[in-house]
Amino acid sequence: MAAHLVPWRTAWDAALYGDDGFFRTSRPADHFRTSAHVGTFAVAVAELARRTGAATVVDLGAGGGELLTALHGLLPGVDLVGVEIAPRPPTLPADVAWTSALPERVTGLVVANEWLDNLPCTVVERDDDGVDREVLVDPATGEEALGDVHDPGWTRRWWTPGAAGERSEDGAPRDAAWADVVARVDGVAVAIDYGHLAGDRPPFGTLRSYLDGHEVDVRPDGSRDVTAHVAVDSVAAAVGGRLVRQRDALFELGVDGARPPIDLARSDPSAYVRALSRAGEAAELTARGGLGDFWWIVTDTRHGTLTA
Ligand SMILES: C[S@@+](CC[C@H](N)C(=O)[O-])C[C@H]1O[C@@H](n2cnc3c(N)ncnc32)[C@H](O)[C@@H]1O
Repeated sequence: MAAHLVPWRTAWDAALYGDDGFFRTSRPADHFRTSAHVGTFAVAVAELARRTGAATVVDLGAGGGELLTALHGLLPGVDLVGVEIAPRPPTLPADVAWTSALPERVTGLVVANEWLDNLPCTVVERDDDGVDREVLVDPATGEEALGDVHDPGWTRRWWTPGAAGERSEDGAPRDAAWADVVARVDGVAVAIDYGHLAGDRPPFGTLRSYLDGHEVDVRPDGSRDVTAHVAVDSVAAAVGGRLVRQRDALFELGVDGARPPIDLARSDPSAYVRALSRAGEAAELTARGGLGDFWWIVTDTRHGTLTA
């Protein structure tokens, strides 16, 4: 059968957010583990909310509501809102709001953990004549071909493929999407994701798919996650954000992986076990080569000073 080729960005969008799209029918936690699934992450977000006096905390791309459920016990009196295209999780506390659209204005803190990496972008490849072209894909098979010449507006500044066969992922839609979020916030906005910086871009791009906890063949057919690392320096420049590694952000917020003193095991064994569990979670969240390498893009729209 002849391939049915469409631009990658179009296929990706339908695969995740179409009527039967992956995120309309799947719970992220069933397929991959994020910081939001590690309880101590909420301790850091709650501390950031307290330090910045947030009356409201919005979790953009709230997935299964894990972060909000944990925040519910940590931030009494603070309004909690999940923004998510998937249905409201049945176990979410009743006084946590759940909506599919970001509010026009947010006074407080907006957190978007692993949201930007799922925003579709144009995939670009340099052809044998040195011309950068949009990559097309057959959603059913993942088969690819090169299409029209790509408008180099974003790629020229941030990520140009180097040689024939090399690729980039045009981050302009992500920059615009995050700028739109930040423009609505009176307070602090934090996007948290895996990413790369100019000078260290992966030459063949970063498109990946995950399913049931495993990396699988990349295919935008709705059966699996489709993601690409974020050009975090470009997003930060679009909003005047501060870039900080997650391990450093958590340290600033008082979360580190130090083990509790062994004396506590004798004086208060259950407190020791709880502290040990928190230390284990903190170690996971700050690990090199893992979640600790994630980037926080932090923007304080009130003070221009950057708080983490
Ligand atoms: C990778 S998951 C991350 C979920 C959660 N933040 C976590 O860390 O586990 C990305 C989520 O963003 C949601 N999402 C993407 N675009 C969205 C949009 N425009 N509005 C609401 N939710 C969106 C998806 O449905 C998906 O649940």
